[in-house]
Amino acid sequence: MNERISVTILFLLFWTLNVIADDGHTLWLRGQSIGPVKIICSKSSASINIAKQELEKSWHGTPGATLVLSIKSDSSIKGDGFKLGSGKIEAKTDLGILYGVYELLRRQQTGEKIIEEMSNPSYDLRLLDHWDNLNGTIERGYAGNSIFWRNGNDSLTVTEHDKKLWQEYARANASIGINGAVLNNVNSSPRMLDGKILKKVQAIADVLRPYGMKTYLAVNFSSPAVLGNLKMSDPFNAEVIEWWKKKVEEIYSLIPDFGGFLVKANSEGQPGPQDYSRTHADGANMMADALKPFGGIVMWRAFVYSPKEKDRAMQAFSEFIPLDGQFRDNVIIQVKNGPVDFQPREPFNPLFGAMKKTSVMPELQITQEYLGQSTHLVFLATMWEEFLQSETYQEGKGSTVARCTDGSIFRQKHTAIAGVSNIGLDTNWCGHHFAQANWYAFGRLAWNNSLTSKNIADEWIKLTFAQTPPDKIGSSIFSKNWTEKFLGPVKTMMLESREAAVNYMMPLGLHHIFAGDHHYGPGPWYAPNIRPDWTPPYYHQADTNGIGFDRTRTGSNAVGQYHEPLCSQFDDLKTCPEIYLLWFHHLPWDYKMKNRRILWDDLCYHYNAGLQQVREFQKVWDRIQPYIDSERFVAVQNKLRRQCLNAQVWNDGCLLYFQQFSRRPIPYDIGRPMNNLDDLIKSDMKRR
Ligand code: GCU
Repeated sequence: MNERISVTILFLLFWTLNVIADDGHTLWLRGQSIGPVKIICSKSSASINIAKQELEKSWHGTPGATLVLSIKSDSSIKGDGFKLGSGKIEAKTDLGILYGVYELLRRQQTGEKIIEEMSNPSYDLRLLDHWDNLNGTIERGYAGNSIFWRNGNDSLTVTEHDKKLWQEYARANASIGINGAVLNNVNSSPRMLDGKILKKVQAIADVLRPYGMKTYLAVNFSSPAVLGNLKMSDPFNAEVIEWWKKKVEEIYSLIPDFGGFLVKANSEGQPGPQDYSRTHADGANMMADALKPFGGIVMWRAFVYSPKEKDRAMQAFSEFIPLDGQFRDNVIIQVKNGPVDFQPREPFNPLFGAMKKTSVMPELQITQEYLGQSTHLVFLATMWEEFLQSETYQEGKGSTVARCTDGSIFRQKHTAIAGVSNIGLDTNWCGHHFAQANWYAFGRLAWNNSLTSKNIADEWIKLTFAQTPPDKIGSSIFSKNWTEKFLGPVKTMMLESREAAVNYMMPLGLHHIFAGDHHYGPGPWYAPNIRPDWTPPYYHQADTNGIGFDRTRTGSNAVGQYHEPLCSQFDDLKTCPEIYLLWFHHLPWDYKMKNRRILWDDLCYHYNAGLQQVREFQKVWDRIQPYIDSERFVAVQNKLRRQCLNAQVWNDGCLLYFQQFSRRPIPYDIGRPMNNLDDLIKSDMKRR
């Protein structure tokens, strides 16, 4: 064999076997340029320069083509939006150019058409909320420690390595349109506002800025007392007001484009204005007044509930609706998608669309606290699409959550959306290769809230896994073989994965039946001597008569918080969607479902279906082995194995526990439990 032939064979082997290891660190930004591009742009700035570098690094258009980047004042372009056309990108701002460049490169790499098109962001503020603590741990983080904070003597030193990581992080965010980050946990330490820490925040902000990312901080309401040594933190006290004004001035002297504060107040033991008999509006407005001269905002969270309330799902609405219209225009109320807490499935929070005189922003959870953490493959875009497209009927038909929050219906001074980050120091950033898709999907939906999860999955797979040799990308571009054998099955798996998790964890509207505080495995039995709303029996209400939380008009009347016709629809068994059945109704075990099965049997079939779905995901994954590098193949294969084991535990734990009340057999045509209930209760499955 001559040398040239053997080199060719080696080359082919290289691509067909995909032997190059890939640790996933480059995320969806893997495209390498296939030729030069001539860039015409009269402007130069940090962000424009990044745009030019990105084009040079990843150009996938015709080699040698010309691209004109121009800043134009055009009233049809909103904020950092842009106009894409053949051979040109127009925007009003430098960041608009940068976002346009990322969009163009994405289209080139995924083979999407590049047509004359306007792209304006759905939300002005598209933020990641990091629940990172100053000691480097991350609340509900499953991908290693914080990329911003660490313990030890060098905790406040900023190294070149830190800066490189933050720059990679900012780049990834900019590439999907994310334009801000809250750098610390909502359960915030008052120390966060200490001068020394603020210096580090300044260093982070300096790295994020050219990529269009503004910096925000979560603040503790008691900071004036704890950090400032004042006697109290009452928002009506003159010294307290002065303290916040001075603190805000100090922050802006370091970070002139600082974004503002995120506040968790009077929630889960955090201090707040109610400690001084003041309202949420009193507290939020005091901070908003301090931030206003600098253009800063306050994101005030509506995640409140107390053990005294008869239905936790109702409290945010009851507390916040009476305050509608009382907030300053630089306050945004940040509301979790569902009324309880980021569960695998919840109906939308009734506050959306109901607060008509206040800016309201959705808070999604990218980190999979309640969805298998970084062990389970669960693509969250389907859940977010379901949420954003939920009809609220607040201003007639078409009042979807998306349109109620993006300024289409209500004139909001600020429109915003936040996602609780799933990023940590793990090499692949997110702990699970497929969890990267959730970061990606959040950014894409924040930019365009009418995108479909199907399209997002398609893009992400192409950008993340395509193994086409670089010189082929740009024209064809994905082989029929790859499209049929890899793209198709992986996409279907992703799109089914959330429903699978709902099935094996909490089907038919069940919610919050996790063991302990780890929120990973099942624990419908978990009821130590703590507040009842922190235990699963509060939510599932199972007894020999039946199962489910009665939120009908004759129950807690949570249905009453929804606008008609939803209220009646949820209230009436004939019209209540079965996906929310046990969320709104307490029903006997032999209740007849639409498919004529009794409730108990249907519950069993759902758990079993979920289990079977993840077993199928394993087969899908094993079949795609020839199309992926071995490093990512093995990592995902291992995770899927654990997911299956865990799904079995969910199935067995929930069915055996509920069977004590239903007193009926598990239908004989489905698999039998493989674990004993006593063992499961004893081990109280921790995260594995
Ligand atoms: C959940 C989560 C907490 C978090 C809280 C919040 O309850 O388990 O860790 O602090 O949400 O959103 O504030």
